[in-house]
Amino acid sequence: MRTLIIIKPWAVSKGLVGEILSRFERRGIRLAGLKVVKVDREKADKLYAIHKGKEFYDSIIKHITSSPIVVGVLDICIDDPGGAVRLVRKIIGATDPAKADMGTIRGDFGLRIDRNVIHASDSTKSAEYEIPIFFDDNELIEY
Ligand code: CMP
Repeated sequence: MRTLIIIKPWAVSKGLVGEILSRFERRGIRLAGLKVVKVDREKADKLYAIHKGKEFYDSIIKHITSSPIVVGVLDICIDDPGGAVRLVRKIIGATDPAKADMGTIRGDFGLRIDRNVIHASDSTKSAEYEIPIFFDDNELIEY
């Protein structure tokens, strides 16, 4: 099962990319694709479409478009697709870094909810929607 992760501007600017990716690699989760991207407003609106109208919308759009991000597609080779999404969410921790457990990515490296280090698709359906925003099929490798 494939899911999208985004290492957000705050984490990229702090030099946390290698550390964050290693959390997944050490669990045996493979990278099917990886790139550094400067997101434009159009892509940011598409990514966060479900949050449009919420009071924090402008803040998350401003952050995600502010400086480069790292987008990755994780390939999680376990039988249960829902379980794969839940595993990734467990590794990244709760949305609000202040509430995320220590030992999770957000719990170890985050501070503010609107700059919460990393995004990951929250369902198989959202993974199917989010991956094509950043990757063409031929950029993803199965191995
Ligand atoms: P992310 O996983 O990228 O999905 C949407 C983002 O909105 C989320 O991480 C947070 O950064 C942000 N977010 C969610 N809830 C709030 C909130 N109550 N206040 C500010 N930002 C929020």
